[in-house]
Amino acid sequence: MSLITVFGSINVDLVAGVDTIARPGETVLATGYATLCGGKGANQAVAAARVLPPGRVAMVGRVGRDGFGQLCIDNLNANGVLIDGVTVGREPTGCAFISVSADGENAITVASGANGALAAEAMPAAELAATTTLVLQMEVPFVSSHLVARRVRAAGGRVIWNLAPVPERLREAELRTLLEATSVLVVNEHEACTAAQRLGWAGGDFESAAAFLAAEGGVTCIVTAGPSGARAFHPDGTHQAAPAERIVPIDTTGAGDTFVGILAAGLDEGRGWREVLTRACRGASLACLGHGAQRGMPTAGQLS
Ligand code: RIB
Repeated sequence: MSLITVFGSINVDLVAGVDTIARPGETVLATGYATLCGGKGANQAVAAARVLPPGRVAMVGRVGRDGFGQLCIDNLNANGVLIDGVTVGREPTGCAFISVSADGENAITVASGANGALAAEAMPAAELAATTTLVLQMEVPFVSSHLVARRVRAAGGRVIWNLAPVPERLREAELRTLLEATSVLVVNEHEACTAAQRLGWAGGDFESAAAFLAAEGGVTCIVTAGPSGARAFHPDGTHQAAPAERIVPIDTTGAGDTFVGILAAGLDEGRGWREVLTRACRGASLACLGHGAQRGMPTAGQLS
């Protein structure tokens, strides 16, 4: 049976609601705060698990031996994510400090903690397989993610890499090796342009950046564009698009992660590109209607 394995970050999100997000040097008073489960990796695992039958999504990550770590493990378990690959270390559990404004926008600072010590060896050998859909982001060490990606690709598995956030210091050579180990690259508009520039793109709009990445890297590049939906560009020059739902967002945190999780689930189920994009866009829109990264993530029934 196929398995989606998410190798990535697990955080607790400390989320403060504010009228406007503080600028540098400014202090603003929050209307309140909440302690929620997050981390791009864990969010993507939960999003995929919500739309699949039990036992189809596994998390490989690292938390601290502290209350936050246990909270994150319990949350993954409660959402039907397999947690055998989650290790507990001496470092503190990763923590994200998030401000969410009245219009649903956010600003996020991540203290990586235990995520920074996640090693490739944490990946179970049985999941280095042709039946694996591996999902990666950029919140755990790049060398670990890259090694796992290469091993899954060598075994004939699928690798979905969400290039978020794009590290300031990601060099051209690293990006090229990342693309070599990737089947499907997922970026937002800003990430598409930043990554394409690192590879010598001449400039233009975010769609031309995504098309450039697809051709240059020999990957399918999916670019998400918030209320404008998403587009998939393939290395042979073909492409598809899907719209987002028209909604009034409460909290956009985790919308991109919901997109990636539902995308991974759809590809693993063997759905076609257009259907996969449409479901992932709908899921990401619905996720914006709940507070926090995971509360608004839909079930399969809400996508049809
Ligand atoms: O993408 C949203 C996530 O980014 C949050 O849950 C936070 O933990 C950070 O990793």
